[in-house]
Amino acid sequence: MKTNLYPVTIAGIGKYTPETVITNNDLEKILDTSDEWITTRSGIKERRIVSGNETGASLAVKAGREALEYAGIDPEEIDLIICATSIPDNLYPSTACEIQRDLACSNAAAFDITAACSGLIYGLNVARSFIASGIYKKVLLASVDVHSRFLNWEDRGTCVLFGDGAGAMVLTRSEDEHDDILFIDIKADGAKSEELKIPLSGKNCPLVEPNTFKLPHVEMNGKEIYKFAINTVPESIKKAVDSAGINLNDVDCFVLHQANIRIIESISSKLGINREKFFVNLHKYGNTSSASIVIALSEAIKEGYIKSPSTLVLSGFGAGLTWGTAVIKWRG
Ligand code: UT7
Repeated sequence: MKTNLYPVTIAGIGKYTPETVITNNDLEKILDTSDEWITTRSGIKERRIVSGNETGASLAVKAGREALEYAGIDPEEIDLIICATSIPDNLYPSTACEIQRDLACSNAAAFDITAACSGLIYGLNVARSFIASGIYKKVLLASVDVHSRFLNWEDRGTCVLFGDGAGAMVLTRSEDEHDDILFIDIKADGAKSEELKIPLSGKNCPLVEPNTFKLPHVEMNGKEIYKFAINTVPESIKKAVDSAGINLNDVDCFVLHQANIRIIESISSKLGINREKFFVNLHKYGNTSSASIVIALSEAIKEGYIKSPSTLVLSGFGAGLTWGTAVIKWRG
């Protein structure tokens, strides 16, 4: 189904990850774990984490600035900032508003969306809709997560998997007839929302009942998420590619959510597509949640792994449960 009134260009991309590196060997000092276990079960070797005054917004601002420079667009030209984040710096204001302030996008509306590790795909769909409908011409889509402040650092089953980071894309109304967004499929299954969550209990009024406040941190049923990912993502990719009117073999590169190398290998084998076509950088950053796809995409472009023009599949999955696939053209 063709939904675009106005075609959309992906005009710029950027990423930023914190400088502090925590290796698997570092984690061995505080947990009953090993580099060998983490590497074989997940493929992760190290991750970046925030320190000092760094926040999700500060990472996203650096990624956003890079994306704006890539696109050659001034901050005040941006009509809308969407920030896909699972872990906003505050319950309010939105991280998008803080990005708007620090990037001086003085003419932009700004809001956050929550779709966890599918955030980039959901955000692309929202950004595309605003441009395709003619409401806005230039949208900055940031995706950022700072999991390190919401991990139980005594739970070896979760804390070894995550890292912090941000990515950003600039989407604009096309100057020509080319549409860089060929198809986007997004889905959710709220019935499985308990499988992966950061519960927020808040504190009851002491006049009502005793407080049961506990610090929020990631709670995950790893096995269920693993099964969900390897069963759902291949179907989503097949559907999106088919709806885009192309074949799997026409895709130059697959950039999937970087959670676990075994998940990526299983999806590549289920699709019957050579593993070489799947860009992987999770060994360096761990699972950066909302940001992982755009961090990987940006790095793949910088390293020349993705050339212009290319047909790409971006696919994410995570808490919600949510999942989604975008089939795009990269002509940057
Ligand atoms: O963005 C989406 C986010 N989530 C995911 O993508 C997670 C998807 N799931 C996974 O990636 C995998 O399920 C994990 C990497 C989380 C776990 O791998 P697994 O092969 O499913 O391991 P497991 O949970 O079955 O644990 C196997 C063993 C257990 O010990 P016993 O019960 O066999 O004695 C765990 O206690 O490994 C133990 N274990 C660890 N050992 C050393 C769990 N975590 C660790 C650890 N180091 N960090």
